[in-house]
Amino acid sequence: MHTPVGANSSWQQRSLRSIWHPCTQMQRAAAVPPLPIARGEGPWLIDHEGQRYFDATSSWWVNLFGHADARINAALKDQLDRLPHVMLAGCTHAPAVELAERLSALTDGVLGHCFFASDGASAVEIALKMSFHHWRNRGRSDKREFVCLRQGYHGETLGALAVTDVAVFRDAYDPLLMRAHQVMSPDTRQAGPGETAVDVAARAAAELQALFESRHEHIAALIIEPLVQGAAGMAMHDAAYLRTVRALCDRYQVSLIADEIAVGCGRTGTFFACEQAGIWPDFVCLSKGISGGTLPLSLVMTRDEIYEVFLDDDVARGFLHSHSYTGNALACRAALAVLDRFEQDDVLQRNRQRAAALSLALAPLQHDPRVEHFRQRGMIWAFDVREPFVGERFAERFHLAGRARELLIRPIGRTVYLMPPYVLDDELAVWLAQRVTATLDAVADTENAHADRTSEPSTA
Ligand SMILES: Cc1ncc(COP(=O)(O)O)c(C=O)c1O
Repeated sequence: MHTPVGANSSWQQRSLRSIWHPCTQMQRAAAVPPLPIARGEGPWLIDHEGQRYFDATSSWWVNLFGHADARINAALKDQLDRLPHVMLAGCTHAPAVELAERLSALTDGVLGHCFFASDGASAVEIALKMSFHHWRNRGRSDKREFVCLRQGYHGETLGALAVTDVAVFRDAYDPLLMRAHQVMSPDTRQAGPGETAVDVAARAAAELQALFESRHEHIAALIIEPLVQGAAGMAMHDAAYLRTVRALCDRYQVSLIADEIAVGCGRTGTFFACEQAGIWPDFVCLSKGISGGTLPLSLVMTRDEIYEVFLDDDVARGFLHSHSYTGNALACRAALAVLDRFEQDDVLQRNRQRAAALSLALAPLQHDPRVEHFRQRGMIWAFDVREPFVGERFAERFHLAGRARELLIRPIGRTVYLMPPYVLDDELAVWLAQRVTATLDAVADTENAHADRTSEPSTA
């Protein structure tokens, strides 16, 4: 195919003239112009001049089976000719029904009803509102406060931002936000000398318990990212935390909202992250990977007992929330194709092999003097670059150095992480580890240790 020289820069310039890019300080866009991607193929993104990039973050954690996956695409094409969309109020359609049924079956029927939305943040808004409204319908309208974890991230809309603790996203809007309680994150990196991950989890849970003890009559819900706080920089915690949290929520009558938008769909090793703790929350938010990186889809699953609290002759006691594209048929059909792949390809088991291969290839980094807190859970790897090696604009420089090595990678602050699509093979794992190490060498050369500089906050 003819690939004109300069095609990239033409798209970049047109983009900068007309698009206000998300999560971007546009003043930096000239120095870090957007990659103009023409097509995707498996884990590769290919620009307009034929240069390929390995999508090391699965395009903001959404892509599970590579780009332009043939099976998901075939399902989408079939659905496109039948029914691209119909509103889900007063109508229903097979892809939404089947998706709700199959997801519920994955919870052994514990979460029996599914409410659809579009982006992750809208699912978070729904879960918060639903929890509050369910307490209200039960005559407990005093329960209207929310609890979230320090370093937690739940999206950018005002309700989701109110339960988010990432300063760079939140601070400007702080005056607009409802007040939520923040409690200690169980992030294992906080372990003191002799402390285990379970000890840190217990410490964090004790702080939560103290809050519940004093405020539970006013608290509607606790929202957490189970096992991995993604936007905090892949902060990982022990599953023991989730078990204790479940018990505390039961004891103090607080809804437990598991935001599995980033960690669901097999990312941590089980389909739902909560499975690793052997618990079910009262609400699960899913998005991102559920439609395999094709179309926006999010949903909130909840227990039938909660659903039933909304049944009444009074319309206003129902949950009247909606979005125009709620339960979009194409997106649901893509999600069914994703679930088919999990079933047909034994994805969770295969991912264990993939994870072992990449962990092996990355093993030398665990002992690299520039690296601390090397960690892994399922198909997520992360490490922090030690302060002396960080320097100014670390994330940006690492990202650009990655581009020069066929990597699309975006550190969060000084945390470098990998969240690749589930299509890695052994050879690609070795290649990826080599390129990540070469990128680290280019950016955090031991010769150039920056003894007294600090890292700037960065975006995911
Ligand atoms: C845990 C978590 N919750 C919510 C969101 C928000 O999802 P969206 O960007 O689709 O609104 C994200 C996005 O990164 C996330 O990681």
